[in-house]
Amino acid sequence: MSKWQDLMPSAELVVGQVMAISWQGEDLLLYRTAQGECRALNAYCPHMGNYMPSGLAPGQSISALLRDSEIHCPFHGWSFDGLGRCTHIPAGQRVPPAVRKGQPVARCWPLRESGGQIQIAPV
Ligand code: FES
Repeated sequence: MSKWQDLMPSAELVVGQVMAISWQGEDLLLYRTAQGECRALNAYCPHMGNYMPSGLAPGQSISALLRDSEIHCPFHGWSFDGLGRCTHIPAGQRVPPAVRKGQPVARCWPLRESGGQIQIAPV
């Protein structure tokens, strides 16, 4: 049996869009970059554990979390790439050793597109 599971039709996630979804008890940010790649990142920020969409201003679209193909946490400005690495911490904040070493700090899930579906694999 394939480890890949259908998540949603590919056409339902357009470039620049971010969706908050639940999958197997996990809260994910599912998004499509400007390059057309689909990615899935834990919706809770590894900095202080905040649910990132809840830091948006009232009325602000969840897609505002996506900047230059990276997820930007609205609480303290950390940014994360598609591999879960923190790519930016604003000046004056402590930089954890894992970030300094370029190691992943946010959980990500493998995605692929096949047969018109976005598919996800457990990690
Ligand atoms: S909680 Fe996300 S940057 Fe602090």
